[in-house]
Amino acid sequence: MFEIKDLGFNYGKKVVFHDISFTINEGDFLCLMGPNGSGKTTFLQMLEGFLVPQHGEISYKGMNLRKWLDKPITKKKYHQQVGILFQNVDIQLFNSTVYDEIAFGPKQMNLSQEEVDERVNDCLRLFNLEHLKDNVPYHLSGGEKRMVALASVLALNPQVILLDEPLIGLTNDNRQKMLHIFKQLNQIGKTIILITHYYQQIKELASDYLIFKDGTAQHKTQDELQESPDLIEQVEKY
Ligand SMILES: Nc1ncnc2c1ncn2[C@@H]1O[C@H](COP(=O)(O)OP(=O)(O)OP(=O)(O)O)[C@@H](O)[C@H]1O
Ligand SMILES: [Mg+2]
Repeated sequence: MFEIKDLGFNYGKKVVFHDISFTINEGDFLCLMGPNGSGKTTFLQMLEGFLVPQHGEISYKGMNLRKWLDKPITKKKYHQQVGILFQNVDIQLFNSTVYDEIAFGPKQMNLSQEEVDERVNDCLRLFNLEHLKDNVPYHLSGGEKRMVALASVLALNPQVILLDEPLIGLTNDNRQKMLHIFKQLNQIGKTIILITHYYQQIKELASDYLIFKDGTAQHKTQDELQESPDLIEQVEKY
């Protein structure tokens, strides 16, 4: 689904990472792990198209990402297929009610009012957020904001879901609920690319890992990781 070739990124003179090459297949559950500041968010924002790599390239479904984002039509199509939950959810919430927040994406897709309504209600139900539908997103608690932001991403029914630390700030209960939702989404064929520091909780779900360290990142399948106790010890510290 994604081909990543010799990818490198720097902010000015500061090199974040270099020489990342690997493939993400449809239906993969890829977990990005690594120390703070190692470039995980930067990498995810490059997949989303928000940041443009200075070195190497990313292609999606056989076409360079730059080409996807070049024209308004393909750009819109890309963003309908690839959804992102940001680490800082505040930048994601801009509507005046939770209902409008979740309805925003579907409304751009020329769906009927009933179809929009149905999608929004399904998403509210999925996260038990029905009681908050008329609330102002900006005034919600941190955990509620994260769930509303994720509901607004899922309302577009994307094929690829990019998640930047979605488990942060949730109660154990809600974290389990979120993990269960990710598992179900993956089981119906969605490609999930997720950043987390919770190895113990994600290891049951992840099919692949991208482990950031020393200015680059190495790709490991779940089986490869299991064969490397040193690496497991390392990711348990992240
Ligand atoms: N806009 C920016 N300008 C300059 N440097 C930046 C910018 N954004 C991030 N950086 C730096 O790039 C590096 C990688 O940042 P990034 O946010 O990708 O790390 P991360 O792995 O997601 O970390 P964390 O686990 O703390 O979220 C960090 O050293 C950070 O300080
Ligand atoms: Mg980050």
